[in-house]
Amino acid sequence: MWIAWLLFVPICAAATARKVSPEASPNTRLMDNILSYMQEDASACDNYFEHACGKYAARHIDDPFTEITQMLDHRVNQKLVQLMAELHQGSQAPGFNESSVEAKVLRFYLNCRDAPQSSRGTEKYLRRAPPDEGLTWPQFSHRGTPWPEDQFKWLKTLGHLHRYGLSNVLVDVLVGPNFQNSSEFVLTLSMPSFKGEAHHLPSFVNTLATLRVMGVPSNSVKPLARKIRSLERTVLVLAESQDDDDSQFLSVDQLRRVTGQDWQGFVELVVGHSITPDFRVQVENLPYLNALKRLMNSTDAQTLVHYIMTRFVLYLLEDTMDSNEPIECIKDMRRSMGLASNLVYKERFLDPPGTLPQYTQQVMEVFEQLRRQFLLQIEENRLGLTGEQNRIIAMKARDIVVNIGNMPRGLDLRSFVSRHYADLVFPSANLDYSREHLKVLEFRTRKKMEQLDHPLPSADEYFYLADPDTAMSSSPYYLVNQNTIIVPHGSLQEPFFVPDSHGVFKYSLLGFVLAHELIHSVDTTGLLFDSHGNFHDVGPEILNSPRFEAGLQCMKRSKTPYLDERIADIAGLELAYSAYFQNTKDGNYSDFTNIPPQQIFFLNLAQFFCGDGDPNNFVDHDNDQMRLQQMLNGFAPFHRAFGCQSRFQSEKCQLW
Ligand SMILES: *[C@@H]1O[C@H](CO)[C@@H](O)[C@H](O)[C@H]1NC(C)=O
Ligand SMILES: *[C@@H]1O[C@H](CO)[C@@H](O)[C@H](O)[C@H]1NC(C)=O
Ligand SMILES: *[C@@H]1O[C@H](CO)[C@@H](O)[C@H](O)[C@H]1NC(C)=O
Ligand SMILES: *[C@@H]1O[C@H](CO)[C@@H](O)[C@H](O)[C@H]1NC(C)=O
Ligand SMILES: [Zn+2]
Repeated sequence: MWIAWLLFVPICAAATARKVSPEASPNTRLMDNILSYMQEDASACDNYFEHACGKYAARHIDDPFTEITQMLDHRVNQKLVQLMAELHQGSQAPGFNESSVEAKVLRFYLNCRDAPQSSRGTEKYLRRAPPDEGLTWPQFSHRGTPWPEDQFKWLKTLGHLHRYGLSNVLVDVLVGPNFQNSSEFVLTLSMPSFKGEAHHLPSFVNTLATLRVMGVPSNSVKPLARKIRSLERTVLVLAESQDDDDSQFLSVDQLRRVTGQDWQGFVELVVGHSITPDFRVQVENLPYLNALKRLMNSTDAQTLVHYIMTRFVLYLLEDTMDSNEPIECIKDMRRSMGLASNLVYKERFLDPPGTLPQYTQQVMEVFEQLRRQFLLQIEENRLGLTGEQNRIIAMKARDIVVNIGNMPRGLDLRSFVSRHYADLVFPSANLDYSREHLKVLEFRTRKKMEQLDHPLPSADEYFYLADPDTAMSSSPYYLVNQNTIIVPHGSLQEPFFVPDSHGVFKYSLLGFVLAHELIHSVDTTGLLFDSHGNFHDVGPEILNSPRFEAGLQCMKRSKTPYLDERIADIAGLELAYSAYFQNTKDGNYSDFTNIPPQQIFFLNLAQFFCGDGDPNNFVDHDNDQMRLQQMLNGFAPFHRAFGCQSRFQSEKCQLW
């Protein structure tokens, strides 16, 4: 297979040579980059975002990204486009292994690029994914033959469509760790959420449009749109009125007796094999499931089948970038074949001798320093915790695992990844977008469900089966049930991380983000779990301790949601700053600029937040400008660094 790689060494060498100008040391490059974003007319004390990031928009006017993590993603995507071209050429050579991981990602990519537009049509999907065996969707029944309503069983249809990962429609189905015993996975049934854009029907006009593209006869489109929207509102009201927070383990047989519904058949479709009546599921909101049964019984089959079909189609559309452009096809590939994409990226761009081990070592040095500093803080015991509480928190911090690249650590990667994709086979002949899309959806869902049948992988075998949006992101994240920080390969790119750059750069950007993730292990959610991912009593005790509560009250003065993010930002900044300036020898010294290191620290920190996106478009976080401001409010080292007068200082919220 590495015939392909050999062929293309000259090209990549040329590309590297063009990018890295030999005169510029990493530190000078990073410094120049920082300076190019600064709006020096704006006062650092009055408006730090404007001061540090004021020229971002002008510099990136034509770029398809609006901030640094999107830029890193974009670069990963560009590199993968290049790699696909190399693989494509290599695949023509004799000896190309058609069943290798490379061949599979290449096939998926080329299918996205070259499949006929007609094979992307909604009708194509629906004919391939019918509501039940021997039953079509209503619009496809033969002319003059009425659709056989009595054959339609809504719960069975949901089970069939779950094969492609459809969930959160009428019933939510989830596979996840058991919070009481994290060494096993459990299947959880609960009521659906309506919070996100993709969790409910769109506007009336867009609902009409969706019904039309599905081929619903035009005279029924309007009345059906009204009926399915009305059904969804009823379900929403039902969910809100029956929300009781209770969760319990029941066998599917007990669940059948309580609700009068065949849950065993449903779960068998979901897990993909037969189960016994004593198969246990975790049930949340049992009263909702009961009430749902009554509602479904009084809803006519046409409304119900059209509702489910519409949500299914919206789910499919949400899952694809819906374009045959190279970058968009790479995104599709990363969403659907995350593990394979990570492997081929690593082998091509991070495996030149020594690269990844060297990067890993430098990232881990920063992380270990942060961890030591955090353990010191725990020892100082600012929160006045008991010895036992402190011991548990320290143990959790010591146990945090950093996984670079979201790969199993202790295994032969190539054979591990080949085994993972062993039963994902694409025919080599004709190209068809919807066929292959449904196939990878089935594959992804099956992998998720298989977790139920296996013991929890050891730390060496562990990698996270990421949801599609996470799979194509380069931002580090913390997994609360594994006590693990994932650092995607995309993070290991300039200017986020530059090997052998000055410590002040490493600690203020990558280091800050690692500290932020570390603090998530002890935010109001992280605290609830011990280092194995099980609920424990110590967490709620700490949450209710007087000084912790006082710190939370202080943080809640800012009225936006996302309390845990604010905790991670504020405590993470303090941790990264002290880990660097209290411990490193080169802290006060630099030979590449006259700007004091304390200022460089905050300027480089700002690189994570500089951007020109719509402030209303941030997901699960405050917008970047607000985050930066909230972190620096009352942070004395910042005010010292820029000589800000005390009128700019407000009270600092203190947690860890
Ligand atoms: C081709 O790839 C598959 C899957 O990685 C592997 O099992 C097989 O040994 C390879 N064949 C050759 C000839 O290298
Ligand atoms: C946790 O789950 C594992 C795997 O199912 C099981 O072997 C073990 O006995 C369980 N532990 C407890 C305390 O229930
Ligand atoms: C379903 O509704 C009908 C009336 O519409 C009623 O006769 C029947 O008992 C109901 N079945 C269940 C299981 O609730
Ligand atoms: C660095 O400079 C600051 C302020 O000038 C000083 O307080 C600190 O002690 C110095 N640190 C080291 C390690 O020299
Ligand atoms: Zn966070």
